[in-house]
Amino acid sequence: MLITFEGIDGAGKSTQIAKLVHFLTNEGVDVLTLREPGGTPAAEKIRAILLDNAHKVTPVGELLLFSASRAELVQEVIKPALQEGKTVILDRFFDSTTAYQGYGRGIDLVLLQSVISIATCGITPDITFYLDLAPEEALKRKFAKSSIPLAFEREELDRMERSGVEFYQKVRHGYLEILRQNPDRFVSFDALQPVGTLHQQITATLKERSLF
Ligand code: TYD
Repeated sequence: MLITFEGIDGAGKSTQIAKLVHFLTNEGVDVLTLREPGGTPAAEKIRAILLDNAHKVTPVGELLLFSASRAELVQEVIKPALQEGKTVILDRFFDSTTAYQGYGRGIDLVLLQSVISIATCGITPDITFYLDLAPEEALKRKFAKSSIPLAFEREELDRMERSGVEFYQKVRHGYLEILRQNPDRFVSFDALQPVGTLHQQITATLKERSLF
């Protein structure tokens, strides 16, 4: 079983994943949690290139690097874990590529789809939880955690996060398009809801669909 989480940076995926792992483990489910990009030694090195502010990366370069990291993780970790009957919970998968590199950076969606197919070997999540949040709210959340004045905040942001609010608006629009095109797999929740309410909605959805 493959469960993925999607949403713009700051939507609260990590918090919900931690709560879900705790819940499923208590239910006796054998869970493996992973995040993209990264997850194998080679993929972690690719992650460092992708997020490092010292590099400029072109949109196509970005697509191929995210896909290279994914190919490593799928072959080395995800495929074997699914074959062993584990429940894999993934913080981002190919929908991030469609939203960020496709809708965000403007790469042709048909070309992008073939790169995704190569990297994933056709593996598709059983369910994807999308936490919907406006980019302005995501920024507020990020800045609320820090006492450093706003002007210096940018120093804290990684290469992707420096792409700006307009980029994130395109990414969010992309996610909403993916939702429209995949109404069965893609389950959307308002990320502004309290953490506990969101967790209950996520576990209720899994129960309803007999996914654990
Ligand atoms: P990360 O620090 O893991 O962010 P988050 O906690 O929000 O998941 O950084 C991953 C960044 O890479 C994030 O900005 C989303 C972006 N990304 C893509 O642009 N394309 C992709 O295919 C993936 C997997 C991530």
